Order: sequence, then C-alpha cells, then structure tokens
Amino acid sequence: MSGFIFDLDGVIVDTAKYHYQAWKQLADKIGIEFSLEQNEQLKGVSRADSLNKILEWGQKTISNETFTALMKEKNEQYLDFIATMDDNEILPDVSKVLNYLKTKKQKIALGSASKNAVQILEKVKLTHYFDAIVDGNQVTNAKPNPEVFLNAAKQINVQPEHCIVFEDSLAGIQAANIANMVSIGIGDASILAEADYVFKDFSEMSLEFIDKLINLKN
Ligand code: G6P
Ligand code: MG
Repeated sequence: MSGFIFDLDGVIVDTAKYHYQAWKQLADKIGIEFSLEQNEQLKGVSRADSLNKILEWGQKTISNETFTALMKEKNEQYLDFIATMDDNEILPDVSKVLNYLKTKKQKIALGSASKNAVQILEKVKLTHYFDAIVDGNQVTNAKPNPEVFLNAAKQINVQPEHCIVFEDSLAGIQAANIANMVSIGIGDASILAEADYVFKDFSEMSLEFIDKLINLKN
C-alpha cells in the first residue's frame, strides 16, 4: 500500500486567485506594488512568510503589532473571498483520482501550509476522503522543510519512501524530495522541473499511472 499526500491550494482547489486579491488589497493599502508574478512566488509560502516577502519587496519595516494586525486583516479578506466556495471549484479530475484511490484502499492525507485547510475541504465537500489532515496549524517549519509531509506520513502510518506527494509549488516539490517521497508536480513543468513527474492537471494522469504509483514500492 502507498500513502498519497495532497497539497491543497493549487492542487485540489485554485485558491491562488483569492490569496492574490487579498494580498493585493493589503499591499495597495500600505503603498506597496504587488504583481501577479510576485504572487507566483508566494505559492506554498506561509501567511507570515508571504507578508515578510511583500514588505521586503516594498522595502518597508513595520512593528510586530502592525505585522500581526496586517496578517489578521489579510486573512479576514481572504475568508470573505472563500466564503462562497463550493465543489464547483475543485480542480479537474481531483475527485476522480480521490475516488480511485479510495476504491484501491490507499491511504490519503492532506499536507498543506494553510491554516484554513479544514474549512476549505469542508466547503468543497472533500473532507471524507482524508485519513489525515496536516495543515499550517500543526507545523512550525514551512516547505521546503519536509515536516508537513513527514508528519502526514506518520499519521497515515506509511513509510516516507512509500508516499507520493502532489504539489503545485517548487518549495513543496523540494520538501517531498527531501522527505524521500515520490514528488509529482501539478502545473507548469518549467517551474516544477525538480519533480519526479509533472502533469498539467489530474486530467492528464491515467489510471494506469496511478496503479503504477500504488504498486511502486510494494
Ligand atoms: C498555501 C498557499 C499560500 C498561502 C499558504 C498559507 O501554501 O499556496 O499562498 O500563503 O497556504 O495559507 P493561509 O490560508 O494559512 O493563509
Ligand atoms: Mg499549493
């Protein structure tokens, strides 16, 4: 048996656009320019690290109190954006793959940097697929540190080398590689070149390929 660990943002749902809009509003307010290209660099990056990067780009220094207040403000804005999310926002063929893994009795875990992961999974009605959920509330070291994936492997009781990680961020692919897991990039092959395999999305992934992953290390 293998363990399948899914990142959330950019793999299961496309929340990058909501993160972008929320950060953009905040950046505008504090007078920092913030582009879509810069938003790319925030994929897989924790909330605090994202704000630090934005402040760095804008060469701004702020007090700890302001930092905490801005993080809260960004998250409230983000929560407003995701409030209306439903299962229509699940990315192509994610449900097909989850269903297939379930019928094959594989272990499934979530490994996400987001502190809103539980809420989002509920909104898109996918919670019941997951044997374990490890999110930003349980990890201290952000990707590319492998903590989130090692923790997930432990919770589903599968050895790291028997785990497969689906990730859309380079930091996440690097974390999976460091954890000695099979890394599968979902997205742009030029960005995710360090992954063992890359697919544009799950609709490009055949069931034969998934069978190969299931049997890979048995
Ligand atoms: C994911 C996203 C990042 C986001 C991070 C924290 O990794 O790709 O863009 O900053 O989660 O999300 P949160 O919901 O806790 O602010
Ligand atoms: Mg992601």
